[in-house]
Amino acid sequence: MLTSSHLATLRSTLPLVAAAADDIADDFYARLFADRPDLLRDQFNRGDQAQGRQQRELARTIVALADDVVGTQVGSHVPQLPGTHTTVGADSAGSDSRGSGSAGAGSASAGSASAGSASAREASAAVAVAPWSVSAPASWAVRSAAREITSRLAQRHAALRIGRSEYDLFERHLGAAFAAALGDAWTEEAREAWSTVYRQTRDELVTSVEAVYRAADQPLDDDWREALITDYRLVAEDVVALTLVSADSEALPPYRAGQFASIQVVLPDGARQIRQYSLRGGSDEQWRISARVLDGEGVVPDGEVSTHLRDHLSAGDVVSVSPPIGSLTIDELDDAPLVLVSAGIGCTPVLGMLDHLARTEPTREVTVLHFERTPERHAHRAELEALVASMPNARLRVSYTGGSLSALSALGVPLSEVSLDGVGAYLEPIDLDVARLTASHRVFLCGPVPFMAIARAALIEHGVPASRVHYFVFGPDDGTVVGADTGQRRPQP
Ligand SMILES: Cc1cc2nc3c(=O)[nH]c(=O)nc-3n(C[C@H](O)[C@H](O)[C@H](O)COP(=O)(O)OP(=O)(O)OC[C@H]3O[C@@H](n4cnc5c(N)ncnc54)[C@H](O)[C@@H]3O)c2cc1C
Ligand code: HEM
Repeated sequence: MLTSSHLATLRSTLPLVAAAADDIADDFYARLFADRPDLLRDQFNRGDQAQGRQQRELARTIVALADDVVGTQVGSHVPQLPGTHTTVGADSAGSDSRGSGSAGAGSASAGSASAGSASAREASAAVAVAPWSVSAPASWAVRSAAREITSRLAQRHAALRIGRSEYDLFERHLGAAFAAALGDAWTEEAREAWSTVYRQTRDELVTSVEAVYRAADQPLDDDWREALITDYRLVAEDVVALTLVSADSEALPPYRAGQFASIQVVLPDGARQIRQYSLRGGSDEQWRISARVLDGEGVVPDGEVSTHLRDHLSAGDVVSVSPPIGSLTIDELDDAPLVLVSAGIGCTPVLGMLDHLARTEPTREVTVLHFERTPERHAHRAELEALVASMPNARLRVSYTGGSLSALSALGVPLSEVSLDGVGAYLEPIDLDVARLTASHRVFLCGPVPFMAIARAALIEHGVPASRVHYFVFGPDDGTVVGADTGQRRPQP
């Protein structure tokens, strides 16, 4: 349990940790993988590690979660989010974020432990001038960001079947990385305070992962299953579409529209790499997924799993699959008019949602906006058109933006720094007038992060409340979808 003395220690060391967070994350993963090379080979995404994306995410997470602990556990009340009534230390479940359940289990007791003490009052005063809080975010904003992070991490860890027993190893290597970075400032008090935060985070994450399994109707001990590829085809330019059924007598579990599953494949070097793919609709007995192949064309490294799906698998082969995961689904939300905005391979959850709506609520008002670089790259266009045509109140607008790697190159964007579906592909303002948006619309977004940042800003500019714009990120979330002001403004009439 966090004490007031822990909080004081956290306050004084957090600026040092924030300044060294990138080094701590790099060092932590280096130690972890030196000790357990199998984790890099079989659990972590080697491409994301090579590009430093997971390291950056971990650094950001450490600072955000510690900021949250320090910022919300001192004093008695935090400013109110519009429409909420939050008391510091109260369980924070029920926020508008479509998360996986409570993120506040650990903070309830810690919050009350220090209330009213002299140390807490001192801590409160110090927090107001905390040097790392350059932009001085309101504490509700910090708490909300922390909830978003925990919820998202829970989804990621749930999809990888990470259980409580694996956390001790993390604690050991993270402690060593903190010690190396902080030097003399890593006192016994600092070690104890940060360990307590780590354990609190661990407990929140484990609880949230279990809530994800429960929300997805998954038994906690469900594990990887073998799935047989019954249909394999290349659709559009470089998109592989697979149909999977159970490889044994027990059918694959049913899924909800918007969910995804992890697929684990054995690569030629023996590594068992795992990636997530959205479930694209179809009958319950079958899963359909589609993967855009990240072929680096000799300019950037190939994506490992998507090229493996293209080059090494075919009908009759078997892959390992996790149970379906994901709490961003439409079936438990209101019946508001929907706008589904996708770009590129971001079409997959949209197809899954449309397939569900066409079967269960065919009269639902839905506007589908899909963006693609070229017609040749547009996967599942016929399927999309047929689904929309089967729903009397559904409309579809497809836009081809014409972006390409050579266009990026011409703009001077360094190709080594962008993913193939990344920056530059969507340079034109996104025309949302076709959707006739109102504050009651609910929007689901899926596509490359730069696209979603632009689209989200434009949607909010058109009057949709931020809380009604939901989005799927197909990889580590660096926060730029919500953080970016892209400069786009609604054109004046
Ligand atoms: C919830 C969720 C749902 C998803 N749904 C879908 C879906 O429906 N369809 C879909 O196509 N994708 C989906 N994804 C993305 C998918 O999981 C994979 O990330 C994607 O297929 C790329 O995987 P890959 O193994 O081919 O690429 P990776 O190997 O992960 O490579 C990713 C990037 O890293 C670079 N890279 C790789 N190796 C190195 C290296 N050694 N050094 C430097 N850079 C390197 C590559 O150039 C590439 O740009 C989803 C992701 C999530 C989280
Ligand atoms: C409190 C403890 C933990 C924290 C704060 C944490 C944090 C993170 C973060 C920030 C990411 C990157 C998120 C992203 O890619 O979007 C991540 C990914 C990951 N974590 Fe954890 N983690 C913790 C515990 C664990 C444990 C115990 C394991 C067990 C091996 C684990 C395995 C993974 C894996 C495999 C990924 C990569 C996901 C992928 O490659 O797609 N984590 N974690």
